[in-house]
Amino acid sequence: MPFTPDLRWSDVTPKAVFLNRRKFLAGAGAMLASSALTEKAMAEELELTSFEDITSYNNFYEFGWDKGDPAALAGRMTTKPWSIEIAGLVDKPGIYDLEELVAGQTIEERIYRFRCVEAWSMVVPWNGFELSALLNWVGVQPSARYVAFETLLRPEEMPGQKSASFPWPYVEGLRLDEAMHPLTLMANGLYGEPMPNQNGAPIRLVVPWKYGFKSIKSIVKITLTDQQPPTTWNKLQPSEYGFYANVNPTVDHPRWSQASERRIGGGLLAGRIDTLLFNGYGDKVASLYAGQDLAVDY
Ligand code: MTE
Repeated sequence: MPFTPDLRWSDVTPKAVFLNRRKFLAGAGAMLASSALTEKAMAEELELTSFEDITSYNNFYEFGWDKGDPAALAGRMTTKPWSIEIAGLVDKPGIYDLEELVAGQTIEERIYRFRCVEAWSMVVPWNGFELSALLNWVGVQPSARYVAFETLLRPEEMPGQKSASFPWPYVEGLRLDEAMHPLTLMANGLYGEPMPNQNGAPIRLVVPWKYGFKSIKSIVKITLTDQQPPTTWNKLQPSEYGFYANVNPTVDHPRWSQASERRIGGGLLAGRIDTLLFNGYGDKVASLYAGQDLAVDY
């Protein structure tokens, strides 16, 4: 499949403008840089969500239920050293040191829309590598059909994991063809910085055409399997959260509409924007679901 990555964030404007946008916006030079950004971003119809918003408005239930809890509490999570176990139907199963794994990969910058099932969204400049590169490196066996992911289980550093109402650890899964798709990213950074803890340090999944809950954070285990793996939100509320979780404005959540979304950072007066089928990536991913009823396979 021909694949064109989205615009690189570094093509848009200097990194410092984003990393410290507020400060820059206060100064005259900043107005220049900022309008250059706007012009270019408008041409792409994408305006990056600020670093501050991306790192202060989070869902990471291991640290609590409020959007501000991860930023306040995730600093205590130890992310070095870090290893990922790769298990199941692979040629080279093992426990791999993350730094060695990443050293073998080409890190790219990818600007993706990110749409939460709660109907808010952001535009995030991720850094990472395609999951397919890692899977090809460990060798996927022909009988594998799904990929299961697991987050760190460490209640002494993750206060939310002391709550028994949630089935820890957080787990997610993809069909193998979804996992091998070139849009599917293992992200170890954003805005050119190492992944902030609250966003899923040191490495997380990003599947931009699916609701955000599929993009599991702080991954410690990846298992290739021939069975559809259990996924956390589906276990909790199967009628509300399916395995597929493709962004779809025509399939509403039982308790709210998915037709539109609130772009974080737009301000109180900003209107809602229309939600796009497959979050705008339909030209690249719709063929994965040919013949499937997206209202049944939600
Ligand atoms: N991964 C883990 N381990 N724990 C979580 O609570 N929340 C998910 C997803 N990955 C979550 C997770 C949800 S609901 C969303 S919307 C995104 O992470 C939020 O990612 P962000 O905080 O970087 O925006």
